[in-house]
Amino acid sequence: MKLVLATHNKHKIQEMSDILKSINNDFELLSLDDIGFTGDIVEYADTFEGNSLIKAKTISDFRGLPSIADDSGLMVDILGGTPGVYSARFAGEGCSSSDNNDKLLRLLQGVEFDKRTARFVSVITLYMPNGDTISARGECEGLITFSPKGNGTFGYDPVFYYPTYGKTFAEMSPSEKNNVSHRGNALKIFAKKLLYYKFIS
Ligand code: IMP
Repeated sequence: MKLVLATHNKHKIQEMSDILKSINNDFELLSLDDIGFTGDIVEYADTFEGNSLIKAKTISDFRGLPSIADDSGLMVDILGGTPGVYSARFAGEGCSSSDNNDKLLRLLQGVEFDKRTARFVSVITLYMPNGDTISARGECEGLITFSPKGNGTFGYDPVFYYPTYGKTFAEMSPSEKNNVSHRGNALKIFAKKLLYYKFIS
């Protein structure tokens, strides 16, 4: 099955390809470059589900191919679920990941460790040219550290501590992270739904 990965984010491309291939080797994964899509997609919804569908449908409509998109972000409990769907541009348009992490750590100044609970959320949506959709949500619980740790450079990975491994996501290997991450969890559910869809159609 040909599947377009509807993201320009190279970290997401790597993670989603690794996870999808480990689930099923039948996917032929195409990038936005492969299909010649260079534009930006405006994410105007206020839910992960909504934005994930907007991205998958926009890319599917572009070339008439099944497309899969992830919309994801970090929700910090003591901040009422912020930054949520605004995770990528938390510190302003065009900001870097370290700007976002600095802002988050500033907002959490004085908050003790066990009150710094947070979760990553990922919603994966596949949009088919016939209008069918398959969607799955995955989450991963952790705590926000007091300072960044680890070499990983993706988003909030250096400030997201995963207690079961005693490390931040940025200190974990890609396969360790993919096994437990929100995106990994969403893709595992997604793969089961896709198998069922193929079975009934
Ligand atoms: P999106 O492209 O609108 O889905 O933005 C997702 C944003 O959430 C990213 O730019 C990161 O800031 C953050 N994010 C999502 N997943 C992860 C992850 O696995 N690690 C670190 N940050 C993430």
